[in-house]
Amino acid sequence: MKTALITGITGQDGSYLAEYLLSLGYAVYGFVRPSSFDPNEKLEDFLGKTPVKLVYGDLRDLTSIERALREIKPDEIYNLAAQSHVGVSFKAPETTWEINYHGVGRLVHAIMHEAPNARLYQASTSEMFGSSPPPQSETTPFHPVSPYAEAKMRAHLDFIVGYRERENRWNASGILFNHESPRRGKTFVTRKITIALSKIKLGVQDILELGNLDAKRDWGFAGDYVKAMHKILQQPVPKDYVIGTGEYHSVRDFVNAAAKTLDMSITWEGTGANEIGIDTKTGKVIVRVNREFFRPTETSDLLADPTRAHNELDWKPEVNFGQLVEMMSQSDFQKIQKTL
Ligand code: NAP
Ligand code: GDD
Repeated sequence: MKTALITGITGQDGSYLAEYLLSLGYAVYGFVRPSSFDPNEKLEDFLGKTPVKLVYGDLRDLTSIERALREIKPDEIYNLAAQSHVGVSFKAPETTWEINYHGVGRLVHAIMHEAPNARLYQASTSEMFGSSPPPQSETTPFHPVSPYAEAKMRAHLDFIVGYRERENRWNASGILFNHESPRRGKTFVTRKITIALSKIKLGVQDILELGNLDAKRDWGFAGDYVKAMHKILQQPVPKDYVIGTGEYHSVRDFVNAAAKTLDMSITWEGTGANEIGIDTKTGKVIVRVNREFFRPTETSDLLADPTRAHNELDWKPEVNFGQLVEMMSQSDFQKIQKTL
């Protein structure tokens, strides 16, 4: 039986990965932040009563990382913990760097001393490509345009690639494009849309306010992407992989698709900050642009070229865009309906 340690286990990806590794027979440990909330409660929301063992720690606390590694001696470490919101990173850049850059450095150093034979997966991101035009592959230059992306890129180059090449460490990055699910954090655009449209449909919200409707993302299903994480750590040599669907859609497309699954339709009028979305059946304005949700600098077009993952990992996503939107919209609609 292999042992895995997952940082960020209380997040979207952590919960899917824990389920997947348990299904493969792994002993799974989760590294969770000490807080006044019981982390088991958060996990139970996602996982029910699964046999995940929790250790307290924080990527800002080297001692906690070393102790966790010493106690668990994992074969595989999945570093999913991060301040993961791009918009928030402009408002809290130091916290973002402390966790997303220095946290990775602490983890890599601790592994060298406490679990030197462990393989490390790092949650890198398509945001690192930033303003590089699509499609983006492993050879596309990085041009990050946010503190989040900058910190993730430097962590990837300094601690994953750098320590792999200089120190012979078994470190690999998955450069993942956006992936979503009913467990997605509620402040990310997809979940914000599926919750708001469900509430509008049920008559308990009037309007959905969004930022940049033209941004395009390559959206896949988180449950598919955690399988790629596992495959990356099973390779004979450590290497970085772009993971995405190879198809992209605008935020406006996502709104239209979510509306459709809820038997609504939207007519768009106006442009830029004055664009509005009107409910075709009722004639009411239900989507409006609010500058508050624009970012100082924006990654506008992210589209994966996942050829390496197809060829070398034999990985392909199983859930397509339409199925993903349907899954998320229906899940939120049913959850909200039950509370009314
Ligand atoms: P998420 O839902 O925001 O989860 C983040 C996790 O990190 C949470 O469990 C959080 O714990 C934990 N965490 C935050 N700060 C920490 C700290 N200082 N020490 C220890 N744990 C800490 O993120 P996600 O969507 O699952 O994404 C997982 C990883 O993949 C992240 O690194 C993200 O940047 C990266 N990524 C995500 C995507 C995507 O589309 N989802 C794409 C590319 C890369 P709490 O519960 O205590 O807050
Ligand atoms: N969050 C949010 N809220 N985004 C909005 C809104 C809004 O009201 N309106 C428009 N957007 C646009 C953002 O400007 C961005 O272009 C796009 O919708 C997606 O935003 P998010 O869902 O917040 O995700 P992200 O692409 O910035 O970041 C996610 O994906 C990255 C991978 O590319 C996060 O999961 C990151 O952690 C991850 O690395």
